[in-house]
Amino acid sequence: MESFYCRTKIYSGTGALGQLQHMGIRRLFLVTDPYFMENKTADAVIRQASPEAHCIFHKVTPDPSVELAAEGTAMLRAFAPDTVVALGGGSTIDCAKAMVYFAETPVRFIAIPTTSGSGSEVTDFAVLTHGQTKHPLVDPKLRPEAAILDSTLLEQLPKKLVADCGFDVLSHAMEAFVAANASYFTDAFAKEAFTTALSLLPASYGGRTDVRLQLHAASTMAGLAFTGAGLGLCHAMAHSLGGIFHLPHGRLNAILLPAVMDVNLHACGGKYAKLARFSGVGSASDTVAIRNLKNALVRLRKELGLPKDLKEAGISPRTLYQHEGQIVHDTLADPCCATNPLPVEDYTVRKVLGAIAGNGY
Ligand SMILES: NC(=O)c1ccc[n+]([C@@H]2O[C@H](COP(=O)([O-])OP(=O)(O)OC[C@H]3O[C@@H](n4cnc5c(N)ncnc54)[C@H](O)[C@@H]3O)[C@@H](O)[C@H]2O)c1
Ligand SMILES: [Fe+2]
Repeated sequence: MESFYCRTKIYSGTGALGQLQHMGIRRLFLVTDPYFMENKTADAVIRQASPEAHCIFHKVTPDPSVELAAEGTAMLRAFAPDTVVALGGGSTIDCAKAMVYFAETPVRFIAIPTTSGSGSEVTDFAVLTHGQTKHPLVDPKLRPEAAILDSTLLEQLPKKLVADCGFDVLSHAMEAFVAANASYFTDAFAKEAFTTALSLLPASYGGRTDVRLQLHAASTMAGLAFTGAGLGLCHAMAHSLGGIFHLPHGRLNAILLPAVMDVNLHACGGKYAKLARFSGVGSASDTVAIRNLKNALVRLRKELGLPKDLKEAGISPRTLYQHEGQIVHDTLADPCCATNPLPVEDYTVRKVLGAIAGNGY
């Protein structure tokens, strides 16, 4: 038997932020970062929601720490809101989710993503950093009640963010498509998200804002796919590497995804070939289809100005080698490994590290 659960009500479109007016918000706790305070988007959210009282936590930084979430939790408890709104990328949404989770008070949670990447607005995940380790919290209670996808928030997206986050979407969709818990329903979202991202990312990267709502929806669909199906080795390693080196999450996925395809091939080659055919790069032969799919990812990575290995991303093979033990340990402990199509062993992680290090590892 298969089951598919979707709790989040999704509002999407140009100006979807206006929906906040109809939500009867009385006490609003807004979680955001300094960028959205400065460019006044936080003010616009408060204006739309027009609550009787509001309180803003605006200290979120990329890869939020457990300590930051604890600080926000105390503030949230003291304010006692009826609604928490997260405005920002995956880091902000995750930080706000963790605050609501730890506060243990009944509130409505609304996510307003400003990147097309994490899919956190519809997932049961929240990733927090503790020391040098990124820990994904996984619990159905973390899934937001509503998500607002407004394309006007994406008009000023820097190119680098389009590229990094775009590869997060591709890796969510691909990992979900081949994951151990994939189902008929998660496959439908995964393949739609993957094909949309693969075809529209170059236009968005080139500055075309008219495709950004479609990419935003693709990001949410990839979130729906992986929260049902699970992720895999690419994300487990992106978490362990991200905790140590603090490179953007999507950029790490871009480096990892083709290398992870190579090691998972024996377990899920048929599904990679299927995804290649859906994406228009297929062939009657599975081997050729898989090669085309991997080449399409490698080509797109280059077109979006992303690094091909960790050395190009600024991590020398020597530095990587010094952290090898911790990377292997943290990867094997990451919950995403549990749904990788191939059981993940010590040597599997080392093999991928060898492939992504750059020369001299
Ligand atoms: N919870 C989940 O399901 C899930 C899934 C994947 C990734 N993640 C996590 O999400 C985080 C990455 O999130 P992200 O990739 O969205 O980036 P992010 O939230 O870390 O933001 C990166 C930077 O982009 C800026 N930014 C955000 N939106 C912008 C906009 N519209 N215009 C200009 N600048 C903007 C932010 O201010 C920030 O400085 C990682 O910690 C990752 O582990 C969570
Ligand atoms: Fe991700």
